Amino acid sequence: MSNGRTSSGGAGAGADATTVVDRIGLLVTNDPELGEGPLGILRDASVVVAGGRVVAVGPAGAVADRRIDAEGRCVIPGFVDSHTHLVFAGDRSDEFAARMAGAPYAAGGIRVSVDATRAASDEELAVAAATRRHEALRAGITTLEIKSGYGLTPEHEARCLRMATGITRHTTFLGAHVVPPEFDGCPDDYVELVCGEMLAAAAPHAEWIDAFCEVGAFDADQCRTVLTAGRDAGLGMRLHANQLGHGPGVQLAVELGCASADHCTYLDDADVEALAGSDTVATFLPATDFSTRQPYPDARRVIDAGATVAVATNCNPGSSYTTSMAFCIALAVRDLRMSMDEALLAATLGGARALRRADVGHLSPGARGDLVVLDAPSYTHLVYRPGVPLVHTVMSEGDVVP
Ligand code: NIG
Repeated sequence: MSNGRTSSGGAGAGADATTVVDRIGLLVTNDPELGEGPLGILRDASVVVAGGRVVAVGPAGAVADRRIDAEGRCVIPGFVDSHTHLVFAGDRSDEFAARMAGAPYAAGGIRVSVDATRAASDEELAVAAATRRHEALRAGITTLEIKSGYGLTPEHEARCLRMATGITRHTTFLGAHVVPPEFDGCPDDYVELVCGEMLAAAAPHAEWIDAFCEVGAFDADQCRTVLTAGRDAGLGMRLHANQLGHGPGVQLAVELGCASADHCTYLDDADVEALAGSDTVATFLPATDFSTRQPYPDARRVIDAGATVAVATNCNPGSSYTTSMAFCIALAVRDLRMSMDEALLAATLGGARALRRADVGHLSPGARGDLVVLDAPSYTHLVYRPGVPLVHTVMSEGDVVP
């Protein structure tokens, strides 16, 4: 694959210079008006970007200041990862190994990461988070959300969110992740702290508020209190729902108009119906079910009912330590029974919808210039060749990621 100038134009590679990704064998635009089927597929195509945006999509051979030759490879929109917990310190590989030997996953493991995160210096935390972000970017994730939730004091939650804002604009305050040990026996006092002093410290650095609605974490009333406090402070709402067993989370997320209900591993008919009749995106996190030996959710039922779905990595030290969206797509197809097209859409456009972004997750003119050149003739290879690093080149806002 060669990168070189093909047109004279005289504009050079300055801020307004155009770049063409040319000779794309199979281009997924996710815009049905641009091409075939729901993925808007074009063959023998090119994409032109300028000023960080897509400016043209069409047949191969477009002329620009700079040319990237895809040599027949497949190009897809950059992945949109709408659920991560990238800011943390410490290692929980022993817990993972114990789980693989039969121990169950429990929300209490979060406290191990809380201790390590509180003890870490600003520099250690920032370097660890930036390293994970770069790993994700190299794996094709061009937009991502980051939650706090391993600080659990006003000072530490604000610190983690401040660091996250250095990486992404999509930051989520998750003070209601688990009750920290200093509040053992008085969870309602902790909820009061979360909704008061902690929210005041976190809100300036957060776009969203989230809570973990689960046995061993927070019940529906506590989650409602936390989310509405965040809403009143100007934050959007999302919710960890129905991860470890059936519970009230999905219904609560829909009732409150959350942007997403995340996990959705255990759903009954009423949950599916509620999701289908709402704007709440059902976000599946299949690497979590893989790493915790939970059953996989029945995504087929949710999609067939008409709900909007997303797939995200949930990168975190306890239940899903991966930045590979390709791995999540493979699980979504094999184990959640999504079609290949549905899984790719969920990992791109679905994630964008969960973050309420209209300008990412697709490659229509005007969208952000975020794309992935796969070292494969088709996106099917993401599932067909599991575990193989197929990301050849990543372009983020029109720049090739080094
Ligand atoms: O989304 N479910 C809650 N939070 C994370 C797990 C965090 C941890 O175990 O450290 C999740 O799976």
